[in-house]
Amino acid sequence: MGRIFINYRRQDSEGYVGRLFDHLLQHFDREDLFMDVDSIPPGKDFVAELENAVKACDVLISIIGPTWSRVTDEAGERRLDQWNDFVRIEVATALKENKIVIPVLVGQAKMPAPNELPDDLALLARRNAFVLSHLHFRDDVERLAKVIQASLPARVKTTGIRRSDPETYFRKEAELEKLRVDLENAKTSPLYPFRVQNKHKAVLGEGNPDANMIFIGESPGRVEAEEGRPFVGPSGEILEEMLQTIKLRRADVFVTNLLLDYSADDPTPEQIEFYAPFVDRLIDIIQPAVIAPLGRFAMGYVLKKFDLPEKRGKISELHGKLLKATMSYGEVFIVPMYHPASVLYSPTQATMLRRDFEKLKVFV
Ligand code: URA
Repeated sequence: MGRIFINYRRQDSEGYVGRLFDHLLQHFDREDLFMDVDSIPPGKDFVAELENAVKACDVLISIIGPTWSRVTDEAGERRLDQWNDFVRIEVATALKENKIVIPVLVGQAKMPAPNELPDDLALLARRNAFVLSHLHFRDDVERLAKVIQASLPARVKTTGIRRSDPETYFRKEAELEKLRVDLENAKTSPLYPFRVQNKHKAVLGEGNPDANMIFIGESPGRVEAEEGRPFVGPSGEILEEMLQTIKLRRADVFVTNLLLDYSADDPTPEQIEFYAPFVDRLIDIIQPAVIAPLGRFAMGYVLKKFDLPEKRGKISELHGKLLKATMSYGEVFIVPMYHPASVLYSPTQATMLRRDFEKLKVFV
């Protein structure tokens, strides 16, 4: 899913859009530019698909040509007034979602007045427009690219690996160490007696303390509890393989779990509640731009934590989606994934999981 959505009306500005797209490719990666929602499978709700595509972007460029607001259908009805007009749905979603919306005027078009726009687009008239002229096309696109670049959230622009200075890295490392000690001493945990009886270790997680991405699994298995490290068994191998497909090493990200002690069964609400403050503290320390919950339990917890509208959704509907949430330190993307163990039970899941990991490439 791209981060820059180019919205346009074919009858009005198609000639400009192709040229603009080619020029923008010199400034942005192909996968950061999203132009046509042209692969909506039959039977899908196309409005929801368009809305999701826009929601996953940071900036929407609305290309407005001379006839943008006047184009009509065969019956002579203005397209912009119709509920199913792609242009209207996309711009209205971007405005509603508070995205950066940049109207780009081409072909000497004028910015439409509020009274020419349907109610859900009225706010577009207040967005400052950018004029793209035929004569100075190249220079204008250079300027536009700079405007877009400046609008993209800094956090997303950075890499999935180390983001800041060594001082921050070591501070976060020390804070995580303190959290590890607190976890080891969490004697009121419902899983503490079992840990002690079996000489197990608590498993806070491991990876880059300054990672841009955190993966949250379900709970450590027996081997993990013996070693005090998450994802060291077969699920860990799958996780590493998936990370490799997007050119990340395990050491580049941070890997943890919803429960931080071994549990043989599905997490119970009581256990989740007990470990939640530890997981929350871990997220607050690392301050990732991306949180990828692995499996339905971790997903349920993360979506509820951020009180996202999707919080009652199923993993079969939400896996691979880029959902935005806000933390005190800035924006975070939540990308739910199936648990790597699902591949062990059903090899066809590997293709799906790989496809979902591909979505993380925009953050790498
Ligand atoms: N290992 C972990 O650490 N977590 C899981 O969810 C599964 C295996």
